[in-house]
Amino acid sequence: MPTALITGANRGLGLELARSFAADGWQVHACCRMPDKAPELRAAAAASEDRIEVHRLDVTDDLQVGGLARSLGGETLDLLFNNAGIYGPRDGFGSQDFEAWNKVLAINLLAPLRMVENFVELVAASHGKLIVNMSSRLGSIAENDAGGGYPYRSSKAALNMVTRGLSVDLAARGITVVSVHPGWVRTDMGGSDAALTVADSVAGLRRVMASLTIEDSGRFFDHSGAELPW
Ligand SMILES: NC(=O)c1ccc[n+]([C@@H]2O[C@H](COP(=O)([O-])OP(=O)(O)OC[C@H]3O[C@@H](n4cnc5c(N)ncnc54)[C@H](OP(=O)(O)O)[C@@H]3O)[C@@H](O)[C@H]2O)c1
Repeated sequence: MPTALITGANRGLGLELARSFAADGWQVHACCRMPDKAPELRAAAAASEDRIEVHRLDVTDDLQVGGLARSLGGETLDLLFNNAGIYGPRDGFGSQDFEAWNKVLAINLLAPLRMVENFVELVAASHGKLIVNMSSRLGSIAENDAGGGYPYRSSKAALNMVTRGLSVDLAARGITVVSVHPGWVRTDMGGSDAALTVADSVAGLRRVMASLTIEDSGRFFDHSGAELPW
């Protein structure tokens, strides 16, 4: 049975990813900062016939990330899905909160690479050998004609560079690394006006992931499978 590890799995897209993979028989390591305050994830785990295992994981915490990687040692990870992310401050040009920007970078940019460095052996030992970084169209430099959103946009643009670098560094080990954009999705982050339900977005992302080969490594796709410009 394939195995996935998903960060930020207590709500939004991460929760739906965990549910969706488990429903298809995958073993899911569903990670969240506060399992005690994750009733939906715990309910999904209880209904999953042991397919969803919940782990406490703040992706910015070196000790927690290293500890989880060690505790899963000997297992294999067909998919490492770096989903956890925050939007951060929405202030426009002229009123940046630089402290808050650092937090956005810690979660959206530094943490995915920390995850990969800690879990790469488990991915390399798997059959699937796939790493997915949850990016955003807002991180596309080519498509930024609206300005603003400096913390979030820069974090996802830089995450795309990490994806690209990893695709080169991990190619010899047969690991595919991609960035994905889930569409504009109705979550706490996307808001209630968003175009897509989490179910539709995740169904699309699952189709994209299922179709990936090593030739796709280092590329950026949306939930429909369309390739996005950096
Ligand atoms: N929704 C959209 O339209 C959209 C569009 C493009 C990209 N995305 C991306 O999709 C991903 C998921 O977003 P979403 O819409 O599902 O957002 P969401 O509902 O706000 O969920 C964000 C998730 O990230 C987790 N998280 C935040 N900081 C964390 C940390 N330090 N350690 C571990 N987990 C942490 C949250 O956990 P807590 O509950 O503990 O805070 C939560 O589970 C993000 O990377 C986002 O940038 C979303």
